[in-house]
Amino acid sequence: MSHSARIERALETAVASAQAEDAAPGLAAAIRYAVFPGGARVRPQLCLAVAAACGDGGHDLVDAAAASIELLHCASLVHDDLPCFDDADLRRGKPTVHAKFGVPLALLTGDALIVMAFDVLARAGVADPVRLPGLMSCIARGVGAPYGIVAGQAWECEITAPVDAYHQAKTGALFVAATTAGALAAGSDPAPWRALGEGLGAAYQVADDLLDALGDCEESGKTSGRDDALQRPSAVKALGVRGAVALLESHLDRAAASIPECAGAKALRETVRVQATRLVPKQLARTAA
Ligand code: IPE
Ligand code: IPE
Ligand code: MG
Ligand code: MG
Repeated sequence: MSHSARIERALETAVASAQAEDAAPGLAAAIRYAVFPGGARVRPQLCLAVAAACGDGGHDLVDAAAASIELLHCASLVHDDLPCFDDADLRRGKPTVHAKFGVPLALLTGDALIVMAFDVLARAGVADPVRLPGLMSCIARGVGAPYGIVAGQAWECEITAPVDAYHQAKTGALFVAATTAGALAAGSDPAPWRALGEGLGAAYQVADDLLDALGDCEESGKTSGRDDALQRPSAVKALGVRGAVALLESHLDRAAASIPECAGAKALRETVRVQATRLVPKQLARTAA
């Protein structure tokens, strides 16, 4: 089965666990709407790619880790779009969850997805109790305080924020969770995979800042210009467009160079190269591959 099919199957099973005939229908519909259809599913793909590079051939705990990370990412997007954060009304090419279902259900949808993410791990971990606690804390660190998504979003409540720490927490931490959880779920040492998550996460947020600044809603499928309107720290504000593109490329080079020698290293370097072409906004398409 392809990695994409494994991810969609695991997400479908998770979302189905939150639906019941006698449950409140609005919440059930909003949860499904927040997860399907997905975006690029970059983080679960990365998790499965690292697990495969570590020799995994299709372990249930690996699929659970990938789904859990994507559910947490979807939750972060629902909350990020709320009026009290970025106040955005377009996401993945359609109205944001609060624009469609209202703020109370959007808040609850994010909450439900966060709880679901850890339930998915717990269910799969019954067959793998030795790997489960380490995997749960690894993923929790990527989303909580002091260095995960929640902490990253909290920098926006400060008068000034260091752009590197802000980016690392709001985006980098979940990429690190994706690479290290892939290794852990496959029964390997996670340490050699941190740098790949850090490099890709940093590259990804710089690419997102470029997309936001260049204002192409059609390419991004989401409300743009939010960083400027809300005076967020951003790589484009700090370095200009050319400086941000150079930074993006250096993060990607660092990510590719960090891949440890292993059976799947070649395939993983290819994945990073594909991301490199995908990440640079089309109007700035990079000259060197
Ligand atoms: C958007 O993430 C938020 C960032 C951290 C940049 P993605 O660009 O991965 O969003 P989807 O899942 O593909 O929609
Ligand atoms: C991305 O924040 C990280 C999250 C915690 C969602 P952004 O606000 O920069 O992401 P987009 O541009 O809305 O996807
Ligand atoms: Mg935001
Ligand atoms: Mg946003």
